[in-house]
Amino acid sequence: MDIERLDFSAPGGRIRGLHAAHEASAAIDDPGPRPSLIQFVLRLQGGWIPGSNETWTAGTTGGYSLLLPEPDNPHAALLRLLVVHPEHRRAGTGRALLNHAIGRALHHNRRVITAECPASGPGADFIKAMGFTMASADERRVLDLTAVPWQDFHRMRQDAVKHADDYEFQRFVGPVHDTLLADMTTLLNGMNDAPLGDLDLRHEHLDTVRVRELEDVNERFGLITYTTIARHKDTGEPAGYSRIFLDATSPEPWARQGDTVVLRKHRGHRLGLLLKLAQAQWFHSSEPYVEKIITWNEVSNKHMIAINERLGFTVLDRWNHVQLRLR
Ligand SMILES: CC(C)(COP(=O)(O)OP(=O)(O)OC[C@H]1O[C@@H](n2cnc3c(N)ncnc32)[C@H](O)[C@@H]1OP(=O)(O)O)[C@@H](O)C(=O)NCCC(=O)NCCS
Repeated sequence: MDIERLDFSAPGGRIRGLHAAHEASAAIDDPGPRPSLIQFVLRLQGGWIPGSNETWTAGTTGGYSLLLPEPDNPHAALLRLLVVHPEHRRAGTGRALLNHAIGRALHHNRRVITAECPASGPGADFIKAMGFTMASADERRVLDLTAVPWQDFHRMRQDAVKHADDYEFQRFVGPVHDTLLADMTTLLNGMNDAPLGDLDLRHEHLDTVRVRELEDVNERFGLITYTTIARHKDTGEPAGYSRIFLDATSPEPWARQGDTVVLRKHRGHRLGLLLKLAQAQWFHSSEPYVEKIITWNEVSNKHMIAINERLGFTVLDRWNHVQLRLR
């Protein structure tokens, strides 16, 4: 079987072939939103993760992408996608692609390879057969914006705001302005509290240069961001934030909930709930055609899950994060 590297500077039909294999696969076992071609490329290239990436394809039957992060996780290779077209399965292609990926990871001196797949179905069976072990699990939850009782949201917000007298809220669409860049950097690093389970990975530590790069990635790949920040009135310190992503390159009526963070010293004032209520109301009035917001929660992240369930998010499915030690 010929496995060839995809050249993103001259991708031609091969990238479309891989996207088509992914679409056909997702139609069977992924009830979530489909990435547009441009979002698919972003995913293959690991846009938000610093380092290098490789995508390899086996004709039109399938392929994989491998991210090689630097500088925080130079020991790891992240398998971002490994897909075989449903018409070509159970013929050893998945195994051949994975063995190739392991060879590339070792070539780059990585000691662990990580992957993610739905908790049940062919991906889960395959990954188990290939010797990967479970490291953590996420649930995906969806908020159906067409069925939200907005009056209840309003009441919940009025009640919660009584606990947050010392805070004020700011919001913006699109990349962060230079005047807020340092605050956003502090807030994004607040995500480093999020649980990683047993994954042999470290959180990335961000500086303002890196945050500006991330904002540029969002813009370059057609992602519109809706951001709300909570700020402590007396000190002016940033206290928390929440962000929703909308893919401007896709007509699909889905949006994606990004990070929601409340920094440690500002917890206990209902800021998490307030940020998400404010975001949902604002986003819905700005983008009324969007019907669903999808979010990922690590299963042990009880506080975030409680807030999401209060808002009416319901579980869509479960995904496992798995890893294989290479040496
Ligand atoms: C997972 C996937 C890549 C497997 O591709 P494939 O070409 O069918 O896999 P292979 O034929 O190489 O299978 C290798 C072994 O995995 C296991 N396996 C694969 N699919 C399986 C299934 N549907 N049920 C049970 N075991 C399965 C078997 O042990 C198989 O060996 P065997 O055929 O000798 O019994 C493919 O089903 C797919 O694209 N799924 C959707 C995307 C996904 O979940 N990717 C995994 C994330 S890393």
